[in-house]
Amino acid sequence: MDTATEKDINQITYKISRLNISDSIAWLATEFPGKVTFSSSFSAEDQVIAHAILSNNLPISIFTLDTGRLFGETYSVWSTTNEKYNTRIKAYYPNALVLEHFINEKGPNSFYESIENRKQCCYIRKVEPLKRALAGNSIWITGLRAEHSPERKNLQRIEWDEGNKIIKYHPLLLWTAQDVRNYINEHDVPYNALHDRGFVSIGCAPCTRAIRPGEDFRAGRWWWEEAGKKECGLHEHAKN
Ligand code: ADX
Ligand code: SF4
Repeated sequence: MDTATEKDINQITYKISRLNISDSIAWLATEFPGKVTFSSSFSAEDQVIAHAILSNNLPISIFTLDTGRLFGETYSVWSTTNEKYNTRIKAYYPNALVLEHFINEKGPNSFYESIENRKQCCYIRKVEPLKRALAGNSIWITGLRAEHSPERKNLQRIEWDEGNKIIKYHPLLLWTAQDVRNYINEHDVPYNALHDRGFVSIGCAPCTRAIRPGEDFRAGRWWWEEAGKKECGLHEHAKN
């Protein structure tokens, strides 16, 4: 197999079902040479996957979508990760002219004013760059976990993404938050300093806040919107 389609899903699911995270990613890299890519937001989950890839020298491209509105702490863990693993995680940026037009028309923080503006901002800063990052790949690895939200509970570890015409692989889907913490501690993996300050799910700075004990995992994301409307468009089918 060097390109994958929806019909390959059962076979791939069967193959990776008994493999650990590194072995499953290594197998995919062999089956789909040069066509497996991993998206990282430098979350704790993403740092686990990055460690599995980089410490085993697996031939997988790693990219991040730099929205231009990330926390300083996120740029720090990105930089530390580059240094620790002697790599350069590739950045994709929003189209400068489209962003310029959007900001000049609506202002820098229009996402607080309406869901439409917020989705437009997410589209320009994340979704359109994501399409460029995924182009030409067969497998897209993500750090989604079932515990994140009720919608993510319904995902499969391997699934077809019709919007992006690509197979998604969520190696940590069934891991708990404690599993992620344990892996990070055991393997001395660099992580975002905001996790020690009540931030759980971390996106852009103006759209993320810390949560209180007992609040939902994603309660700090777009906190001014109703829970059901919190979709940024990266994981459309996940309806997060
Ligand atoms: S989001 O849809 O709400 O933004 P979330 O922050 O939970 O997503 O992250 C889930 C997964 O989406 C991450 O593990 C990562 O694979 C991908 N992802 C999210 N944000 C980015 C980003 N800025 N750059 C690259 N990948 C990202
Ligand atoms: Fe824009 Fe906020 Fe979406 Fe980031 S999370 S792209 S700042 S609306």
